Amino acid sequence: MSKTKISSMIMIEATSNPTPADKRKAMMENPGFGTTFSDHMVVVRYSEEKGWHDGRLMARQPLPLDPAASVLHYAQEIFEGMKAYRGKDDEILLFRPEENARRFRHSADVMAMKPVPEELFLEAVHKLVEIDRDWVPDAEGGSLYIRPFQIASQPFLGVKPAKEYLFVVIACSVGSYFKDVSKGVPIWVSENHVRAVPGGTGTAKCGGNYAASLTAQAEGYEHGCAQVVFLDALERRWIEELGGMNVFFVMNDKTLITPPLKGTILHGITRKSIIELARDKGYTVLEQPYSLDQWREDARSGKLAEAFACGTAAVITSISKVCDTHGDFEIGKDGANNPVANELRESLIDIQRGRVADPYGWVERV
Ligand code: PLP
Ligand code: COI
Repeated sequence: MSKTKISSMIMIEATSNPTPADKRKAMMENPGFGTTFSDHMVVVRYSEEKGWHDGRLMARQPLPLDPAASVLHYAQEIFEGMKAYRGKDDEILLFRPEENARRFRHSADVMAMKPVPEELFLEAVHKLVEIDRDWVPDAEGGSLYIRPFQIASQPFLGVKPAKEYLFVVIACSVGSYFKDVSKGVPIWVSENHVRAVPGGTGTAKCGGNYAASLTAQAEGYEHGCAQVVFLDALERRWIEELGGMNVFFVMNDKTLITPPLKGTILHGITRKSIIELARDKGYTVLEQPYSLDQWREDARSGKLAEAFACGTAAVITSISKVCDTHGDFEIGKDGANNPVANELRESLIDIQRGRVADPYGWVERV
């Protein structure tokens, strides 16, 4: 094992036995989502005495963790989701990574965790992608999904913000998040469970929000749906977001509506990018409350042309049908015909993959 100091923060410990090329290629042929992991990971430690220290890029391996580590008891944990794409001439591109670094800090603040400096976050992501660049698929729709996360590692059972943390970055080759998106996905309205409350952790990307969404998600699966849409906690009336995606409604007059960022939904980077892209294409984009009743009525009257979910994992995925205990409703005349979602998806992917000029400065080369 060779050790090279390549920056002030992260040392490289190159693996002596990365996955052989033929095996890696076979694994990447049909990677699915979240199971085909790359060879390396970055681990950086935090302690009160040393601050962030002992940054290492090493072979992917289990983490040594004391069974009393507070993350295992009180869920002091946050994460990010971002992607690296293979562009032309084999260049590897990241999409708005500084936005993820910023949101990671925000999540840390919400969860009373020591924030990872943005430069350290970006360095860790760059170094991991650089060393595992062979794991970035070149297939259309394929990418390297990067999962930075931070956990409270202090062995301590008192309920207090921890004094020790691990910041870790892992990555996996991925294809589409949903199995079949050609006709859009059906989604389930969660009537009994909410995801976030005002004053809660809804704007943080913390594991607890996702754990809390799983009962509703399971209910959705039982009803043949691929995702769950959550309503606001107070009135159970306003659409907030899906379990792992933001949502847009496309009216038939070139207007897009998306729920406003009022403290309970995640500030999606895809959402933010779509708002800019759509406005530049001449759409009117309104960040305003939209109710489930309105959604049902607009779908029935034909005022609503399309609806789509968006996020790093889902990119832009059309919603074909909405199901709840009051009866299902279909969106659009034909689930497969979603011209606005298609136009926006193509423009977004073209920028992410470096196929067109990037007037926004969103893409970063690794
Ligand atoms: N909302 C939730 C709950 C999510 O988990 C995600 C995914 O990260 C999003 C929205 C979309 O965010 P982004 O576009 O930054 O991936
Ligand atoms: C992402 O899009 O990065 C997420 O974290 C959402 C999750 C459904 C994988």
